[in-house]
Amino acid sequence: MAIGILLVGGFGTRLKPLTNETPKPMLPVGGLPVTERQLLAAKKAGIKTVILATSYLSDVFTPYFGDGSKWGMNLLYAVESQPLGTGGAIRNAAALVNFADSNEEFVIFNGDVLSGHDIAAQLEFHRANSADATLHLIEVADARAFGCVPTHPDGRVIDFLEKMENPVTNSINAGCYIFSPSVISEIPGGEVVSIERETFPKLVKDGRPVYGYHEQSYWLDIGTPAALFKGSRDIVGDGFHAGPGCTIGEGSVISGGSSIGAGSTIGVDCAISNTIIGDGVEIGDNCAIADSFILHNSKIADNSKILGKYISPSENLPISPQ
Ligand code: GTP
Repeated sequence: MAIGILLVGGFGTRLKPLTNETPKPMLPVGGLPVTERQLLAAKKAGIKTVILATSYLSDVFTPYFGDGSKWGMNLLYAVESQPLGTGGAIRNAAALVNFADSNEEFVIFNGDVLSGHDIAAQLEFHRANSADATLHLIEVADARAFGCVPTHPDGRVIDFLEKMENPVTNSINAGCYIFSPSVISEIPGGEVVSIERETFPKLVKDGRPVYGYHEQSYWLDIGTPAALFKGSRDIVGDGFHAGPGCTIGEGSVISGGSSIGAGSTIGVDCAISNTIIGDGVEIGDNCAIADSFILHNSKIADNSKILGKYISPSENLPISPQ
């Protein structure tokens, strides 16, 4: 069966300050880290072994995921002391499973994407085409902010085009791609390599079989604070989500798709909306909190008024939504 690689080592600069102490893929959306949602999606597609390609704040992942047995999976960790870029990270991670002797495909996930697409169907499409690489492509209403990927009617990729004012197609790389093992060995080892800017364009230029798998599923890149909050609200829906072991005091109103992590306590008479609250957070009485992110184990005093803030046990900073 195919092997998964989750790319989770980036700095998450656009999400700062939320990523000051937490890698972007470990930020909770709807009560679970994005990485855990991706692991569950990989498992659903029959993938049993997943390698986490970590770098920035790599120590955060292991205590949470361990060897993966809690999820019935086999998890391995490839740590880059300096980020190797998306391509370098893939090559470095695949070395853990001896890719040169392997016939297994690699299914690679950008670690900051929520996607409901059918990974097993993407894998089938890859095999049916005897492809070297197969990307999930999604149509967006306005592709100007993205590089776009035109394909022939049978799905074969024609080109990888940079951002442009008049995109030739609205199909963009949705951040989940399948590689045959031979492609991995062509990525130079120990170097910084971009899969999007170097590997994919070179494969197409060399006439290799690169295919686009079109599926219009739920899809969101949670790379900015506004997108992260949207992703969490999309999962939670109109009301709110409370994890196991939470207590909510009398008279408190939680709304706007807020989510509260496991074992958190909310005092009485609080109003909380469009807010992500981590695990083990203690919020006092009579607090008003909106559009904010409260990291695991933070404590908020009685009568606090918090609007558009990032709060952790050691930091209290404004969030700029962009
Ligand atoms: P920004 O700094 O805000 O652009 O975010 P980013 O660099 O963390 O993420 P980007 O969207 O550029 O990358 C897509 C995915 O690849 C994210 O899940 C990143 O964690 C991951 N990623 C990016 N660069 C590296 C890297 O050098 N090594 C590893 N292991 N993962 C990476």
